[in-house]
Amino acid sequence: MNITVERLPEQELKPLFADPTQLGFGKVFTDYMFTAYYRKGQGWVEPKISKLKALQIDPAAVALHYSQEIFEGLKAYAGPDGRILLFRPEQNARRMYASAERLCMAPVPEELFLQGITDLVNLEKRWIPKAPGTSLYIRPTLIGTGDALGVHPADEYLFYVILTPVAAYYKEGFKPISLYVEEHYIRAAVGGVGNVKTGGNYAASLLAAAKAQEKGFSQVLWLDAKENRYAEEVGSMNMFFVFGRKLVTPNLGGSILPGITRASVLELARSLGYEAEERPIGIDEVIAGLQDGTLTEAFGSGTAAVISPVGSLFYQDQNHVIHGNQVGPVTQQLYDRLVDIQYGRAEDPFGWVREI
Ligand code: COI
Repeated sequence: MNITVERLPEQELKPLFADPTQLGFGKVFTDYMFTAYYRKGQGWVEPKISKLKALQIDPAAVALHYSQEIFEGLKAYAGPDGRILLFRPEQNARRMYASAERLCMAPVPEELFLQGITDLVNLEKRWIPKAPGTSLYIRPTLIGTGDALGVHPADEYLFYVILTPVAAYYKEGFKPISLYVEEHYIRAAVGGVGNVKTGGNYAASLLAAAKAQEKGFSQVLWLDAKENRYAEEVGSMNMFFVFGRKLVTPNLGGSILPGITRASVLELARSLGYEAEERPIGIDEVIAGLQDGTLTEAFGSGTAAVISPVGSLFYQDQNHVIHGNQVGPVTQQLYDRLVDIQYGRAEDPFGWVREI
């Protein structure tokens, strides 16, 4: 595949952010973006790396009216000796493919996805921050374009990739966050698109999250749509509950995002001798475990969130503190092991890391 590269003159390149530990998440963007178009009868054409700029799309574009939009999130890490490392990028390519099929979009071939990202990140390598806990977040996005308002799949698509150097996702950093167990609003129902990485799921979560944040909580923990009883996910991350040497995470019943970090944590935990179960876990079981002390830790997992300790759960007017609102040893061990592999500081027996 021949990717056209339109280089900018040196003097037009932006200065790097002075203190990468203060980057926050997704506020600073690099100089270039990758774009490719799907055109009816032609397939995927015009793969190009050019200056990051505002998109020009038709105001009738299907993405804008009927939400034919999907995205992915992965990171490039500054490894030892200047190596650039990606973490399981082919998994993102495959998840995006599956998301596209569910939303009747033209899927992005794995090769185009991986080559576009590889070439863009290589060109932008000066933007990969080196401070601990920082990385270059990669946001591949697919939108339905076209120019007709009937409710039907778009006949044209734009695939683009943008890059943002990031630090921790939560303002708390690697400190326990507080969750509000949401009982009124729901995120997604089985049979819908809760397992698809589409913007609509995030839009649907905003009001509940805003209300929880007004009350001082970091995020909401969603319950299942049918019985309002089983823990699902947090929206920005999957959930794990730790019962001593056993981890429990909600099974992928169709309404939960199949997190790549989630799958990795399951494998890592088993390799470290933990039991790891994927099954429905009721909020009553979680609360009972906190009350009798058998639930020892909780954490979330995600590309942006990495592994984020959860320090409390607010449920039915009661705040339940988890592990004294401190980072527990299991969470810490899994976090250390995962990031050591991601940053190339430890051997990768799973074959997850790709040097580009
Ligand atoms: C990611 O972790 O990559 C996500 O897409 C979650 C988003 C809330 C930042």
